[in-house]
Amino acid sequence: MAATGEEQQGAKAFYVTTPIYYVNDAPHLGHAYTTVAGDVLTRWHRQRGEKVWYLTGTDEHGQKVMRTAEANGVSPQEWCDRLVEEAWKPLWEHLEIANDDFIRTTQERHTARVREFVQDLYDKGEIYQGSYEGPYCVGCEEYKAPGDLLDGEGEWAGQKLCPVHKKPVDILKEENYFFRLSEYGPKLLEHYERHPEFIQPESARNEVVSFVRRGLEDLSISRSTFDWGVKVPWDDKHVIYVWIDALLNYATAVGYGSDQAKFEETFPADVHLVGKDILRFHAVIWPAMLMAQGLPLPGKVVAHGWLMVGGEKMSKSNLTGIKPQDLTGHFGVDAYRWYFLRGIQFGQDGSFSWEDFSVRYTSELANDYGNLASRVAAMVNKYFDGLLPEAKGAGEAEQAVRDGLAKAVAEADRRIGDELDFSGGILAVFDFVKQVNGYLTEQQPWKVAKDTSPEAQERLATILYTAAESLRACAVLLNPVMPRTSGLLWDSLGAEAALGPLAEQRVQDAARWGQLPAGSTVTKGAVLFPRLEEPKDA
Ligand code: ME8
Ligand code: MG
Repeated sequence: MAATGEEQQGAKAFYVTTPIYYVNDAPHLGHAYTTVAGDVLTRWHRQRGEKVWYLTGTDEHGQKVMRTAEANGVSPQEWCDRLVEEAWKPLWEHLEIANDDFIRTTQERHTARVREFVQDLYDKGEIYQGSYEGPYCVGCEEYKAPGDLLDGEGEWAGQKLCPVHKKPVDILKEENYFFRLSEYGPKLLEHYERHPEFIQPESARNEVVSFVRRGLEDLSISRSTFDWGVKVPWDDKHVIYVWIDALLNYATAVGYGSDQAKFEETFPADVHLVGKDILRFHAVIWPAMLMAQGLPLPGKVVAHGWLMVGGEKMSKSNLTGIKPQDLTGHFGVDAYRWYFLRGIQFGQDGSFSWEDFSVRYTSELANDYGNLASRVAAMVNKYFDGLLPEAKGAGEAEQAVRDGLAKAVAEADRRIGDELDFSGGILAVFDFVKQVNGYLTEQQPWKVAKDTSPEAQERLATILYTAAESLRACAVLLNPVMPRTSGLLWDSLGAEAALGPLAEQRVQDAARWGQLPAGSTVTKGAVLFPRLEEPKDA
């Protein structure tokens, strides 16, 4: 669903990425969180009429994936193929993720370019041979600073543990190739200084700045103790370090070294969305790699917080038993997309709970929003035979609704589209929904309807038009978050006939009053947010 349109030919796309996820297992709620956030952000920009490119994919090389494949008795490639086709792509489809591309690091379009990139750096003297010994966490695919390790207890007494995975690290000693990362510290600091928006939120920025200020070490960029990776072009006893391989996906997927026009239209990313666990890779190593190659740096690296269950980061090694599909089966896909962005301040950690989800679903989606939509459609059907009446003589109460809408549009556009404050933006729209509900409660159209005088009937028409026109705007504003129910509402308002497809409605235009023409056919459509069934185990 990439934007088309002659005027955009050659313009730079708004380019957003998710991390490419390890395929050692099926996707869980944490992966879906990032991917849904990116989807909402890109759908929002599409709805502004911008050209957009949304990339996701999978990280398939390295020891972590290799060991999992071995444990399952298949080759790493077979393992990845199976997981990608049976678990990853189907989940993104199920969640209505509108990514423009899906890159896999085992694809030739990627591996060939990775080799060229690394060869170039080698030719420029940015890479040299050396040796390294240190603690390595396979879970992180990263050498750890000894000072960051935890002391093991119980079965791991006497061993050092990775602070993220809480598992013993391996001591690796290798003859490796090194990237001169240490030389980039001052340039990186200067970049952070000149572009305060480069790392978000503020806490993430501060963490990276103080990390770089402490001084960077050169980075080992090859491995020789296993072979599941991209071979180093000048020394095939080595494979390229999985993180160098992985980060390059953001360039190779958009034509680096193969399609210059596409590359220039897309690269660099405007937003790299990441969890805070992989912030340093994106805010330190990746820009240094780009500087070394003379390529432009991304606009922003935005780190979000962790989804927690019972106070622990949700991860594959701490399986909670709740799969995304369990939640969508109960609450529906749209509510799922909405809930995590609505309930958690982007950037902060947040706890998931089934109870919290149920409460919010019932009060905000079903009662506030869904009921508003069904009440308005029912009244237009009952009092005007399903034809939207003309509004005559709007007064102060109606003006207040229009003002409320203008405020909601401006606020949602700034917060979601520019600031990635999804909860704040969604809240602005739902405050408007509340306002329209309040308007109906005060105007009491069901009472006005009992009076058959022409004045009262005109008043009734104005009230219902005002409510329906408000819902028209809600469908537009919520479409990036909840595409399915927004489409149902659009249908129920009979909006397509006069206004065209929902996806083509512009955010900038959403507050312009009076777009739904009188005479539109309003139907009592499907219930947007049905009452929840009791959970099976309750
Ligand atoms: O790190 N809460 O892949 P990965 C929120 N392959 N987000 C979470 C989460 C949680 N509990 N758990 C995971 C890798 N995520 C590398 C990336 S990019 C060039 C290479 C999300 O499978 C979050 O986005 O470990 C996090 O950064 C990412 O999944 C890590 O996925
Ligand atoms: Mg991880």
